[in-house]
Amino acid sequence: MAKMLYSVTMSLDGYITGPGGDMSWAVPYLKPNPLVDELIANIGSLLVGGRTLGGDDPHRGTEREGKAFGGGWSGPQFVLTRDTSRTSTADLTFVHDPETAIRMAKEAAGDKYVNVIGAETARLCLAAGQLDEVLTIVAPVLLGGGVRLFDRPAGDPVPLERMSLSSTDVVVNIWARVVK
Ligand SMILES: NC(=O)c1ccc[n+]([C@@H]2O[C@H](COP(=O)([O-])OP(=O)(O)OC[C@H]3O[C@@H](n4cnc5c(N)ncnc54)[C@H](OP(=O)(O)O)[C@@H]3O)[C@@H](O)[C@H]2O)c1
Repeated sequence: MAKMLYSVTMSLDGYITGPGGDMSWAVPYLKPNPLVDELIANIGSLLVGGRTLGGDDPHRGTEREGKAFGGGWSGPQFVLTRDTSRTSTADLTFVHDPETAIRMAKEAAGDKYVNVIGAETARLCLAAGQLDEVLTIVAPVLLGGGVRLFDRPAGDPVPLERMSLSSTDVVVNIWARVVK
């Protein structure tokens, strides 16, 4: 059974984008990270939020722009969006409700991970009781504003259990499971 993993690069002050959705801040931290290489080999599908698909890309202006993990991964992607005008392709399926998107992404992933991309999408998975793990790649930068890792101002605490802690020269990887 596939597990659902929210993996994301986050600033030290808890943002996954800069103000206005800017992602150029992440460029200095896109260095080789053995843990991410290991993860990529274990991803069976992606569940991508509509704002992520249309959002900024730290690979902007390069041949890696618009590709999953900068071109490091390929396979079935499920995009959660209210926009019904988009046409699905072989690898990109547009889905219009979270429950169906989660089900389809899990079926496609087999025994591997569904990698969840986008904070709101991850929150929806959590609310549905479907989020299993969170991999936060912490970058040593303060952004001051933007999209938060998890914006649940009125929410109860969500206990996490650390699975691994590792680092490269530039980032710290914190991998945790959601305690259910
Ligand atoms: N730091 C990182 O590692 C990293 C990684 C990935 C992305 N990002 C950034 O994160 C930002 C996106 O995150 P986000 O939290 O703002 O958004 P998101 O999770 O990517 O997408 C949210 C979108 O999901 C769709 N949606 C939500 N609820 C829905 C429902 N009930 N039914 C159907 N569709 C629904 C809507 O898409 P529509 O608007 O299309 O209808 C909504 O705008 C982007 O700026 C991206 O660049 C950062």
